[in-house]
Amino acid sequence: MSSDRAGRRPFVAGNWKMHLVRREADALCRKLRDGAKALGSVLPEIAVFPSFPLLGTAVEALAASGIGVGGQDLRAEEWGAFTGDVSGRQLVDAGASWVLCGHSERRQLHGETDELVASKAVAAARVGLRPVVCVGESREQRRAGETFAVLDRQLAPLDALPGLLLAYEPVWAIGSGETATPEVAQVAHAHLRRRWGERFGSAALTLRILYGGSVTPENSTGLAAMPDVDGALVGGASLDPGRFLAIISSFAALARPSEELP
Ligand code: 13P
Repeated sequence: MSSDRAGRRPFVAGNWKMHLVRREADALCRKLRDGAKALGSVLPEIAVFPSFPLLGTAVEALAASGIGVGGQDLRAEEWGAFTGDVSGRQLVDAGASWVLCGHSERRQLHGETDELVASKAVAAARVGLRPVVCVGESREQRRAGETFAVLDRQLAPLDALPGLLLAYEPVWAIGSGETATPEVAQVAHAHLRRRWGERFGSAALTLRILYGGSVTPENSTGLAAMPDVDGALVGGASLDPGRFLAIISSFAALARPSEELP
């Protein structure tokens, strides 16, 4: 599979997880908005993923900035008696354009299966949200040589939906400070793209695959240099505007001039 990334605009996303209150979210968004503008011309696509009560704050603070907002999860059903859950329609109504599906914390802490994650991606695409589907192996699975098998199993129920992105987030690298080396990330990304190509042909060439797991300004340039790493899904470092903007800069070099922010 060719790794020509010409058609794949780099994408840098901040997953805020269960952090911040509205005042802090507003301040962070304003710094991001101004900082991204100051970075100038050629930027990757950027989005932040706040928890649900902060969506409105982020949408408002980032209005007309070119920086998108997404939800961290959704329920596959559109309406109903599902206390505590949020639907894709509600996310769209709140101003979200993206949604994470199957983050490893959801898979681990909420028992989300590969099939459930796939059904969430379908539900997201149905209402026009772009699903960012997270996949990745645990430390034990990597040690046992099962990385590709795990990724294959997680990919199996997924379809090439409009706007779908993959995020390779090895569980052992999340929040651990132990990022995958660029080479380790590249091998996994190339595998994902190859498998996508076997099932969906040329759609694999435009599929964007983000890397997530302890991404920092110190390691983002090396990751960005890998031909199949199309961006980053950043946890902890996305809560610090200076560090998140530095990561954005690492991927800016890969973006083309026609992709300027408004
Ligand atoms: P950290 O960058 O904090 O390791 O989190 C990664 C992640 O889970 C992003 O979704």
